[in-house]
Amino acid sequence: MTNQTDPLVLFMPSGKRGRFPKGTQVIDAARDLGVYVESVCGGRGICGRCQCEVQEGNFAKHGITSSNDHISPLGEKEKFYASKRELKEGRRLSCSASIEGDLVIDIPQELQINAQVVRKADDGRHIDRNPAIQMCYVEVEEPDMHKPLGDIDRLLQAITKEWGFEDIKIDFSLLQTVQKTLRKGKWKVTAAIHRESETARPHLIAIYPDLKNEAYGVACDIGSTTIALHLVSLLSGATIASSGTSNPQIRFGEDLMSRVSYVMMNPDGDKAMTNAVRESINELIGNVCKESKVSREDILDLVFVGNPVMHHLFLGIDPTELGGAPFALAVSGPIDTYASELDLQVNQGARLYMLPCIAGHVGADAAAVTLCEGPHRQDKQMLVVDVGTNAEIVLGNRKRTVAASSPTGPAFEGAEISCGQRAAPGAIERVRINPETLEPRVRVIGIEPWSNEDGFEALATKIGVTGLCGSAIIEVVAEMYLAGIITEDGVINGDLAQKSDRIIQEGRTFSYILWRGKQQLAITQNDVRAIQLAKAALYAGIKLLMDKLEISEVDSISFAGAFGTFIDPKYAMVLGLIPDCDLKKVKAVGNAAGYGAKMALLNQDYRREIEVVVTKIEKIETALEPDFQKHFVNAMAMPNKVEPFPKLATQVKLPPRQDPSNSAGVPKRRGGRSGGRRAR
Ligand code: FES
Repeated sequence: MTNQTDPLVLFMPSGKRGRFPKGTQVIDAARDLGVYVESVCGGRGICGRCQCEVQEGNFAKHGITSSNDHISPLGEKEKFYASKRELKEGRRLSCSASIEGDLVIDIPQELQINAQVVRKADDGRHIDRNPAIQMCYVEVEEPDMHKPLGDIDRLLQAITKEWGFEDIKIDFSLLQTVQKTLRKGKWKVTAAIHRESETARPHLIAIYPDLKNEAYGVACDIGSTTIALHLVSLLSGATIASSGTSNPQIRFGEDLMSRVSYVMMNPDGDKAMTNAVRESINELIGNVCKESKVSREDILDLVFVGNPVMHHLFLGIDPTELGGAPFALAVSGPIDTYASELDLQVNQGARLYMLPCIAGHVGADAAAVTLCEGPHRQDKQMLVVDVGTNAEIVLGNRKRTVAASSPTGPAFEGAEISCGQRAAPGAIERVRINPETLEPRVRVIGIEPWSNEDGFEALATKIGVTGLCGSAIIEVVAEMYLAGIITEDGVINGDLAQKSDRIIQEGRTFSYILWRGKQQLAITQNDVRAIQLAKAALYAGIKLLMDKLEISEVDSISFAGAFGTFIDPKYAMVLGLIPDCDLKKVKAVGNAAGYGAKMALLNQDYRREIEVVVTKIEKIETALEPDFQKHFVNAMAMPNKVEPFPKLATQVKLPPRQDPSNSAGVPKRRGGRSGGRRAR
């Protein structure tokens, strides 16, 4: 029972607050309020995981004057801990310190206990922690002839007594090692307890001798092109190391459908692809462990995301059914199993969780992106686009969310473009075209100055200019449109050959020479067409979702994936890849799928959240929607045949709209319409 005269305690960064009687231990107050404080030693003062810090000062907004005088003096446990390990000035152990007056208490995030582990740069977002694994240090009664209880039974008794877990399940494999482990630890051991959910039966999955003050997890995004894997401390939340590789399944087929076809045509083709991806993941785990000097044995929980085909192949499920309507998933719900079931070389008891899939075309990766960006947590309409060879699209707010995928193909990644290449030194990444002279200037990866600036020539000779990466492909087509080189229908205007020698005729069409050097880089009519087809597929998918929600505009756009990180949203909008929106509200969110996986790894509440959300997301099958074709045809134009882009027009001078009666494809200025697009 508390009363109004009891000290008021505010925990940061969560902002949770409450009144507690004097003498209450800080850790008890935190837990009472639902503030996550890690503890491995169960309050013995030996793990140092429960550190906190008093924020001194007058916090008028909260009506709290907080001071170090309002917390108990350094206790014996803290003095002992400080004598053995580092306890920074001002830091306290919340299992020792007690509340003596009003306090503002900071629970430091990503607390590093193991000095040898270097924290990798994260994107700075904070994830509240509540992992599925809990490390529990216990001291077990030694065997006694008069009490014939087995070693493991006494261990379970100790866990129940000290940590409150009841009815604990135990992995069979532990029975074979428990006696050695207990004796090695001199009857002091750390038990790893896994729970599928807060209410699920606890499960003893690993035992380590003595105090094991660290546990690790893996968050992995299996993309069709690349696999990205992160090693994360389950106790501090820090990303310790990351590693990535090309998906080895590429040798069976570039895109998803060709991999499904491979399975259909080759007996055991699915098994070969399953083995290939699992081998790669084992290698990546080896890489991150080596880099951070962490043992595979210390990895206890793994979370995976991937599109439906990757999801099925990784799980060893034949993806044939995903190759055609009705695109039936073998399983759409979450997967919770042992990592060893999938041949992953980590601790024998390690658990594996795979996020649920949204639909046969919208996978666990889209679920992870949704979890990360949270359209379902917003009032405003948020559009989330993850562009890969298949674009996955989620749109909505807390009332209603819809999702679809669109087959954009590999054009945005440069695969169908005559001079496309991956982003590497020598690839053009930025393009600007002078609308008067039609002369371009470019920026190349690995070369700081633009091509018209001092110092460029020398570096370009050394590095070479070899092709265009994804961001440049978007920019060059958009700039060609803005400069009038291509019409809004995407036709390279051959009349301009008289004005510039960069426009050259090739058969019945024209090309634009972007770069003259050792290697000539030209944008052909086919290249423009490939981009038009890809962007029209994406926009038509988005438009179908907007129709479903009966909205004509979105409030914000999140671009997920590597592609989104480098493209300039302005050019994406000029091309009509995405709908009109305030450019300030368009942002690249990086590997949101990987980040969503990390959220699910560090907090099982996020697993429950996304499991519920996916059941509520309405799935749209673009191929079956009658309006898809109409939207697709409109979206072939730049930026779009029928959609106005008024917000974009305040930022960019768009060319005048083409007169629909002018079939020659040469733009005419639309006369006297103040509401039309701005002339350049
Ligand atoms: Fe281990 Fe406080 S809980 S030191």
